[in-house]
Order: sequence, then C-alpha cells, then structure tokens
Amino acid sequence: MNHVIQNFDRSVMGYEIHSIPQNALATELAKWIPPEERHGYAIEFGAGTGLFTRKMQPWSGAYLATDAAPRMVISGIEQCPFVAWKEQTADQPQYLGPADWVLACNLLQWLKDPESVLKAWHDTLKPGGHLAIAVLLPGTFAELHQVLPEANPLIYRSAKIWENLLEKAGFTLEREEIWQHTHIYSNALAFLRAIHAMGLAPQTTIGPGRLRAALREYDRKFAAPSGVRTTWQAWLVRAVAA
Ligand SMILES: C[S@@+](CC[C@H](N)C(=O)[O-])C[C@H]1O[C@@H](n2cnc3c(N)ncnc32)[C@H](O)[C@@H]1O
Repeated sequence: MNHVIQNFDRSVMGYEIHSIPQNALATELAKWIPPEERHGYAIEFGAGTGLFTRKMQPWSGAYLATDAAPRMVISGIEQCPFVAWKEQTADQPQYLGPADWVLACNLLQWLKDPESVLKAWHDTLKPGGHLAIAVLLPGTFAELHQVLPEANPLIYRSAKIWENLLEKAGFTLEREEIWQHTHIYSNALAFLRAIHAMGLAPQTTIGPGRLRAALREYDRKFAAPSGVRTTWQAWLVRAVAA
C-alpha cells in the first residue's frame, strides 16, 4: 500500500464528515450520467466510502465499486450495500472487464502513472464503452499554494494534459467542463485540520513557526464573510472507448 492509500485508509472516519466539496463534485459528475443511461456493467475505481457510488443508484445491471484502501471498502459496503465491492488498485483492472462503464470521481490526480492506468481502463471497456471521470486541477487549494506551497498534497496536471492522456489512451471525448467550487472554513487552521482528516495530509514536515506565519497570512489574505475561502477546481469529462 503506498502512502496515499495509507492516508485514505486512516482517514475513513473523517472522510465523509469533511467532504462537502467532494460531495458537491460527486453530485456534479453524477448529473453527467442520467438515469436512462444507468445500465450495463459498471466498474468504479477509487470509490472510497461510496459518496459517488450512492449517487449512481439505482443502477440496472452489475455495479462493481472498488478501492485500494481496505477500510474504505468496509465503509463502502456498510454505506452502499446495493452494489458489489472489491479491494482493488486502479492500475490493475485487467480481470474485471469487459465493462460498459468505467467511473472514477476524484481519484486520478492521486495516481503515479495515470497514462498507463487510462490505457488499462480503455482496454477494460467494451468498444463503445463509456468513461466518466472527475479529476482535480491546479486551481484546487490555490490559496494554500500561495502561502504554504510545500503543504499542497498534490502536483496537479492541467485539463489540457488530461485531455492528451485520454486521447493517447484511445478515448474520444464526448463532453468536458471545468468545475469550480468555493468552500468556507472558519479559519485557515480549520481548513488544514479538515484536509488532514480527509486523508490529504501534506507530504512534508513544516516547522511550527513557518506554519503559524502561513496560517496568519491565509486568514488575512483570504478572509470571507464567515471565515476563509478555499477553492476547488476539477475537470469533468465523458469519453468513449474506440
Ligand atoms: C478523494 S477519495 C474519492 C472517493 C470517492 N470517489 C468520492 O468521490 O468521494 C480517493 C479514493 O481513491 C483511493 N485510491 C487512492 N489511490 C488509489 C489507487 N492507486 N487505486 C485505487 N484506489 C485508490 C483512496 O483510497 C480514496 O478512497
């Protein structure tokens, strides 16, 4: 298990409590698959606690929800027992197909080699099968990036890079859109605590002096009527496998 999966595994209790932005993103992606298209065999990767999975129900046909973090899968089974669950890393889908749908909400930005994962997902789909994904973009946590760049848990790719990766993997884009969301936390410290609780812990150790100064700067620069603001940005896309 790599450190990303370990962090999510440990955060299972806090994930849904703090995941208002993730929930908004899952709601948005779910709108891209209207009820009349919710049929066939679907495989979801990085399903976590089932936030997006639940929004896809009822689904007519087999729906396999997967995640690499064992405790996420246990929580998913409890919260969404209507679908099949499997502990599974996203990069080894070979034996799960052929599928009509591959779905992944808020996962791909965490993967080390998304190019080969997208190719593997493509080969897991039947020809003409659909992919629907949401992936975080560089605008996410832009405020944190300004005051404490080393605390940003991710290196983001642009929508253009994702588009190229999808096309190289053999997908044809059907629809794409950039989604932006602002979330208000009571202050910068509350925001940092929340991202820790969601499993998005920074990978570097930050000295207490530097941290205090950065939090003060955040509170001052990004003040909003009832706290401080944080931006989330994602690329939503639907594509077809050739
Ligand atoms: C931000 S959460 C998203 C969960 C859910 N899709 C949602 O929208 O709330 C990312 C999930 O991806 C899982 N994950 C991270 N790396 C993974 C990998 N290599 N293979 C499969 N799952 C992975 C984590 O365990 C976590 O549950």
